[in-house]
Amino acid sequence: MFFPLKWWSLVLAVTSASSAFDVKPFRIDLGAKIPRLNSVVKNTRLPAKDLYPGVGSDKISDKGISLESLRGLRTDWLENFDWETQQAELNRLNHYTVVIDSQTVHFVHQKSRDPDAVPVILLHGWPGSFHEFSPIVESLTQSWTNGTGKNVSFNVVVPSLPGFVFSPAPPANWTVNDTARIFNTLMTEVLGYPTYALHATDWGSVIGYSLYSSFNTTVRAAHFVMIPFLPPSGEQLAADNITLSDDQNVALERSIDWLTLNGGYNTEQSTKPNDIGLAMYDSPVGQLTWIAAMIKLASDPRAGTPPSVLNNTAILTSVSLYYLTDSFLSSVWIYAQNTNAFNTVYEKPPTNAPLVFSFFKYNPGFWPKEYVAKVGNLVSYKVHDFGGHFAGLDNPPALLEDIREMGFYFKA
Ligand SMILES: *[C@@H]1O[C@H](CO)[C@@H](O)[C@H](O)[C@H]1NC(C)=O
Ligand SMILES: *[C@@H]1O[C@H](CO)[C@@H](O)[C@H](O)[C@H]1NC(C)=O
Ligand SMILES: *[C@@H]1O[C@H](CO)[C@@H](O)[C@H](O)[C@H]1NC(C)=O
Ligand SMILES: *[C@@H]1O[C@H](CO)[C@@H](O)[C@H](O)[C@H]1NC(C)=O
Ligand SMILES: *[C@@H]1O[C@H](CO)[C@@H](O)[C@H](O)[C@H]1NC(C)=O
Ligand SMILES: *[C@@H]1O[C@H](CO)[C@@H](O)[C@H](O)[C@H]1NC(C)=O
Ligand SMILES: *[C@@H]1O[C@H](CO)[C@@H](O)[C@H](O)[C@H]1NC(C)=O
Repeated sequence: MFFPLKWWSLVLAVTSASSAFDVKPFRIDLGAKIPRLNSVVKNTRLPAKDLYPGVGSDKISDKGISLESLRGLRTDWLENFDWETQQAELNRLNHYTVVIDSQTVHFVHQKSRDPDAVPVILLHGWPGSFHEFSPIVESLTQSWTNGTGKNVSFNVVVPSLPGFVFSPAPPANWTVNDTARIFNTLMTEVLGYPTYALHATDWGSVIGYSLYSSFNTTVRAAHFVMIPFLPPSGEQLAADNITLSDDQNVALERSIDWLTLNGGYNTEQSTKPNDIGLAMYDSPVGQLTWIAAMIKLASDPRAGTPPSVLNNTAILTSVSLYYLTDSFLSSVWIYAQNTNAFNTVYEKPPTNAPLVFSFFKYNPGFWPKEYVAKVGNLVSYKVHDFGGHFAGLDNPPALLEDIREMGFYFKA
């Protein structure tokens, strides 16, 4: 599907960077809800001791988050976490809302001073949000050279997926392809970028891949840390004569553990989103348990130590955003609305746009170079032994470098 640019958006993009859409500036202002949040967290009890000591941890193969880990987060929420500080930090970015196809979309738009900057859309997933990219947004707008004399910088757009934090819930029949369609409209018609690049992770990668394959005249480079294809098994890799490095073997094992031992959240959210969504609706400690467990499992065991900034403050900011915007319920619905999001057959889509892929060792989905090359015009496969699923927080310098590399391949 290709939606042609309306002629007036092109004219306006050149003259006033405006468009036929009503783009409204937006600021995060949730401070009034903090006293109640604190009181609910304070009055939520936790067990005094582990029911079965030693079976809870951040390992995918274990029985869920440990009480000690949860208690530490709850204590930090009450005693050390300051929402106003985090909110002020997030408000340093330029936020907007716009209505596209009757759907209100919240987005960050941070522009470079370079007239040749590459427009890029950064796509988050669950349980992520625009906040996941906050460590790299401003750096991406800065001009950077890799030593070849060429430089690259970006006009950065970070939308909230429909149903996530400040983007309200879409209709029940909404799918990731609808999100892809309105995000393409956001880039081309609302913001006036005739062509652009994308970075995508998690559900964002399903949306990003839909954009990459269906909008081949507007998406002209893509960077993925995950692709929406079922990861290969050890047997498949052996049959293909693909031999793995030690780091890749760790990633393969985590990938298999994730698929076999951590499907519970996926099944629940795909089949009974209302049950988990309503149970958690007014339970900040419940949301903390469910979301923090997932963040910890999918991240580098060293998360929170440099270069990772994925510490308790970042986790609590994520959970606060979900809770304070009442969007946990609508966020889990994305699983029920897209039950066949993972392809099983690896096929080339009709696009020649360059694709850069980044392997992060602790990302619990593993796709070797040979497999990524089947589903796009793979021009570079980057390898990082630090970082996991939320690379924007878990290894921001590496993600920044790889998006910049993609920028060098972008041709408007
Ligand atoms: C980057 O390159 C563009 C032209 O390609 C130029 O306009 C801009 O000034 C350069 N920026 C820096 C910081 O060198
Ligand atoms: C999806 O639902 C909306 C209202 O909830 C309706 O207007 C629209 O026609 C539906 N779309 C499809 C493709 O069924
Ligand atoms: C793997 O290697 C074996 C032995 O060299 C060969 O017979 C087989 O065709 C190879 N498989 C693939 C998929 O290349
Ligand atoms: C988490 O990291 C941020 C930035 O890296 C830092 O400002 C904050 O103090 C850290 N929080 C904790 C609890 O260590
Ligand atoms: C999105 O569109 C693609 C390509 O047309 C299709 O294969 C896929 O099934 C669609 N996904 C959903 C969730 O509707
Ligand atoms: C874009 O897709 C269309 C139809 O799917 C195809 O005919 C065309 O060649 C593709 N363009 C590029 C640049 O790959
Ligand atoms: C700079 O980036 C281009 C495009 O990614 C690449 O071909 C080149 O090797 C890079 N140079 C250095 C010094 O990294």
